[in-house]
Amino acid sequence: MNHKKMYLLLGDITTEVVDVIVNAANEQLAGGGGVDGAIHRSAGPELLEACRPLAPCPTGDVRVTEGYQLAASHIIHAVGPVWRGGTSNEDALLQSCYEQALRTASERGWRSISFPSISTGAYRFPFDRAAAIALTTSDRIQQEVDGIEAVRFVCFSEHDFVRYQRIASKENISLEILTGGTI
Ligand code: APR
Repeated sequence: MNHKKMYLLLGDITTEVVDVIVNAANEQLAGGGGVDGAIHRSAGPELLEACRPLAPCPTGDVRVTEGYQLAASHIIHAVGPVWRGGTSNEDALLQSCYEQALRTASERGWRSISFPSISTGAYRFPFDRAAAIALTTSDRIQQEVDGIEAVRFVCFSEHDFVRYQRIASKENISLEILTGGTI
């Protein structure tokens, strides 16, 4: 029996009760706006201290810290690519973020992981294209690695939530839709 599933929900990733949440970080791991800022605010100042010796983190790569004040026990900081028109290896770099995050989680024995939509805010990656990469890469890697039972995609707006559903059906990806989430 296959216990592996992917879920879609509308919500705030800082309130996720999972083994690990993924942060959309920058190479300096220095905190910032968007989901990165929200995660640092919720985790507390110890997070910035923990990030300092782990920097720099090259684009497409990941670093692990504890979750500090978060409900999630750990954070995987993934650095997505800045969108530069699509000719600077952006697709492969974004794919690498999801792949490395999932492989890292599996190696550590974590069973549940929540992702934001990496690179689609300040880094301006086209949303539908990023969602297709997020969904197809995660589907493939989750099946390939051991132990990850739940991959959760946390959308921060209703609009993004609907777009993820549309892309999943277009890409023929099986996704359980969780409703009743709040922001
Ligand atoms: N929960 C879930 N998703 C969120 C949250 C949240 N609390 N806050 C924002 N988001 C969503 C945004 O709606 C967007 O779709 O996260 C997605 C990624 O947007 P950004 O946070 O801007 O991340 P990114 O595009 O990868 O840019 C990274 O922004 O401030 C920084 O330090 C960060 O320099 C880095 C850059």
